[in-house]
Amino acid sequence: MNHEKIVILDMGSPNCQIAAYKVREQQVYSEVKPSPLSSEDAGQYKGMIVIPGAHGNTVPDAGIPIFAGDVLTADPAALRSFLYDICGCKGDWSLANFTDDAIAAVREKVGDRKVLCALSGGVDSSVCARIVQQAVGKQLTCIFVDHGLMRKHEPAQIEETFSQYDMNFIHINAEERFLNRLSGVSDPEQKRKIIGEEFIRVFEEESKKIGQVDFLVQGTIYPDIIESGWNGAALVKSHHNVGGLPDHVDFKEILEPVRDLFKAEVRAVGAYLGLPDFLVTRQPFPGPGLGVRCIGALTKERLDSLRDADHIFREEITNSGLQKALNQFFAILTPIQSTGVADGKRTFEYTVALRAITTGDFMTARAAEIPYSTLQTVSARIVNEVAGVNRVVYDITNKPPATIEWE
Ligand code: XMP
Repeated sequence: MNHEKIVILDMGSPNCQIAAYKVREQQVYSEVKPSPLSSEDAGQYKGMIVIPGAHGNTVPDAGIPIFAGDVLTADPAALRSFLYDICGCKGDWSLANFTDDAIAAVREKVGDRKVLCALSGGVDSSVCARIVQQAVGKQLTCIFVDHGLMRKHEPAQIEETFSQYDMNFIHINAEERFLNRLSGVSDPEQKRKIIGEEFIRVFEEESKKIGQVDFLVQGTIYPDIIESGWNGAALVKSHHNVGGLPDHVDFKEILEPVRDLFKAEVRAVGAYLGLPDFLVTRQPFPGPGLGVRCIGALTKERLDSLRDADHIFREEITNSGLQKALNQFFAILTPIQSTGVADGKRTFEYTVALRAITTGDFMTARAAEIPYSTLQTVSARIVNEVAGVNRVVYDITNKPPATIEWE
């Protein structure tokens, strides 16, 4: 369906994406396009928003109404007036009609052919899988490679969610295989490389078993397109080193059902399609999973301790009602062993670090000021309930200079 559209001219301001999102919040579809835009291209839009940035500040003569300047995010009334009074928009865009259109488009494109999806349990791949499932049902096969580096209960929750839908869902438990390959490896980049390679190997082996496939689903979202530098080429999420696709597999086409959406919109579509809360509100989780949160060599025993500590931390953050105020929080199992005492006996066990941050874009972040009483509760529970841990510390470092993850 053709919607009325507003264009945000990208002159290098980081606020372009926010502006585009704000326009859509007013039920008007928007796109970010690189400057300059030809007047012919401008003609397809009802209006233009120009935010001065690193690449310029000249307001072009585009022959359509223009809203210039950077005050935009602060005043929704001014934006609304521009869209509805000046550009004459009617407000014909909503996530509900986006979703219905996306399902219809996938159905038409795929016809009676077969689709394959690498489901990671992240928001983007989950929402894509649900859209494609709604469109073509059993013509879709989702492969969920469980590398044994997920959080407590997650693989079971993902299986429970997706196995209820009408599609082919394959859950590969590859924990042993990944841990064997990772045995004795403690260098973070080496871990990432091995996990990425092994993921592709498992995915390839499984996809071969299901025979000819015509389409591969990819969870590209709109910021990936904008941030990729406007080359317009079909995108492979190269920054996701797990979930990366084998490039020599002969898939005819890539399906990207949410490539026009911002992250918050992807979450809203997921909710609209009835995906459970734990998937829709899921925080970023590194592809290599707990592999890069278990510092040093990985063993099943250490990973289980980390899973238990992380689960306690998440449970207590939820109990204290803080989870909505935090953008990411998790536990890290450090390789530091220190002396402690339990039941009158000396112990020499691992230290767990807790990390919780607030951020807008994950490029910079602040260590969150979690109430001391919550930290104390978490610490007491972890040292009492988690095997092999006798000390808990809280990381108060901002990014920069620290990164969010420890590896
Ligand atoms: P850093 O640690 O670089 O993390 O401050 C920024 C954001 O990226 C996530 N992250 C990763 N995501 N593969 C991913 O898919 C990775 O190897 C990876 N490393 C970090 C991190 O969780 C945070 O949200």
